[in-house]
Amino acid sequence: MSELEALESDLTSKINDASSEAALEEVRVAALGKKGVVSEKMKTLGKMSPEERKEMGPALNGLKNRIAEAIEAKKASLEEAALDARLATEKVDVTLPIRPEAKGKIHPISQVTEEIVAIFSAMGFDVAEGPDIEDDFHNFTALNFPPDHPAREMHDTFFFEPKEDGQRMLLRTHTSPVQIRTMLNQKPPIRIIIPGRTFRCDSDQTHTPMFHQVEGLVVDKEAHMGHLKGTLEAFVKTFFEIDDVKTRFRPHFFPFTEPSAEMDIGYESASNEIRFGQGSDWMEILGCGMVHPNVLRNCGLDPDEYQGFAWGMGVDRLAMLKYGIPDLRDFFAADARWLEHYGFDPVDQPNLATGLSR
Ligand code: DAH
Repeated sequence: MSELEALESDLTSKINDASSEAALEEVRVAALGKKGVVSEKMKTLGKMSPEERKEMGPALNGLKNRIAEAIEAKKASLEEAALDARLATEKVDVTLPIRPEAKGKIHPISQVTEEIVAIFSAMGFDVAEGPDIEDDFHNFTALNFPPDHPAREMHDTFFFEPKEDGQRMLLRTHTSPVQIRTMLNQKPPIRIIIPGRTFRCDSDQTHTPMFHQVEGLVVDKEAHMGHLKGTLEAFVKTFFEIDDVKTRFRPHFFPFTEPSAEMDIGYESASNEIRFGQGSDWMEILGCGMVHPNVLRNCGLDPDEYQGFAWGMGVDRLAMLKYGIPDLRDFFAADARWLEHYGFDPVDQPNLATGLSR
């Protein structure tokens, strides 16, 4: 056996014996790397006589190519084996039934948020989100709250310690600042809903320092009060799953809308139960209005070109009303028995095709 043949057979068996990609890489470096045996042999070509080189050149090149190919082939088969091994360990049998001991319920707030998202997604709305910690500009100023206006105090705001530059960050008191963030970053038409946590220093049977809102915002060249009413009426009918829910709009004041309104729904309370779609009593469920021209201007939009409508509603309250939950504070008490009773099946995702709630 010539020297080259011996070398080739030695390298070939090392390649075949490599049991991992790392081991194979070691063989490759030892053979074809800068200081590898084959590379060192290639370097001797320069010192050979022309006749010798004519013979050794092709022989060495052939050796180099065959070794490189053998390494590639071995690499491919090692990779395939590794993938097979991984697939074998990560196999999931999707036909297995849910184990009886798998417990857990969806919290009514998550449920109701998902229901609201499902309803407005079907109407063509996107979901937008923003930070819980806000600055004065997004939470108040850009929303047309005048400086030192009592409305700022009305919100019972949680402020942080002032920063070095005097600026006080705050926990957002409503989801409306995300309207501002969206209008500053996105060209109309805008059609969004904004679910999220909100914070006010307040606590009793119907108020908690942290609560949840869903905000809605539509900005377009033609958006008017009729669209606002139609959108919200369609929403309450679908949400409460009652076709003849009665609604009425009462004039109200918000700094960021003009005109502003509160929407009430008709109900009757009978033997400790609230029934919608009947009776002659009214209950307020959300605030709304046409986006104030100043708010559009603060976001760089021309109020002569664009109009918008918006609304904001309390998720916790909607959840209490729809599912007959008497005390808001229980939402945050982390009581597993309460959740077992009021919670929802995690496998049933709310959607309009199969039903919002079961
Ligand atoms: N931000 C208001 C609040 O927290 C709710 C609200 C009212 C939002 C009217 C709106 C709106 O977008 O148009 O009390």
